[in-house]
Amino acid sequence: MPGPLPPEVEKILISQQALARRVKQLAAQISRDYQGLRPLLIAPLKGAFVFLADLIRHLKVPVEVDFVRLASYGASTQSSGQVRITKDLETSPAGRHLLIVEDIVDTGVTLGYLIDALRQRSPASLKVCALLDKPQRRRRQVGLEYLGFTIPDQFVVGYGLDFGEKYRELPFVGILRREG
Ligand code: IMP
Repeated sequence: MPGPLPPEVEKILISQQALARRVKQLAAQISRDYQGLRPLLIAPLKGAFVFLADLIRHLKVPVEVDFVRLASYGASTQSSGQVRITKDLETSPAGRHLLIVEDIVDTGVTLGYLIDALRQRSPASLKVCALLDKPQRRRRQVGLEYLGFTIPDQFVVGYGLDFGEKYRELPFVGILRREG
């Protein structure tokens, strides 16, 4: 049983049960599409690690996993548009079937940058699996081949997503109360 809602969390947007159900469906879809292949799953740190961990345990195809870390300059809840890689892949992506496993797409700038960087490295294919999509603030169009949930333009935490490194451990996705 999850504990009480932290006071900073206004309400639960996606319950633990709904997340589990949707992650299983995404895993089934990915397993079908990648039959006979061994995709390299690439998760940007840190937010995507919970989703990735749950997702891979439902896959029916063998996978490899690697991580990148992207930093964007500017305020903590808003992407400024300037992105760089601060931790690169440890596996060569050339000739591999790459699947980016992302926690949330907001403006699309971060993901767009990662897609561009990976495309330059001659993968066999490149697709994206995102748990959450906030399309309202999109500045860069990105294709999401696998998508968990489309959500309104509100700041969410939990299930790996943080605000100032807090709330990642919450088993649900909740809306953060914004003061001011
Ligand atoms: P984008 O470049 O604007 O698409 O931002 C994507 C990144 O911003 C995500 O990978 C998250 O790290 C962060 N982010 C955007 N919206 C949220 C949110 O609602 N909660 C937590 N992190 C968010």
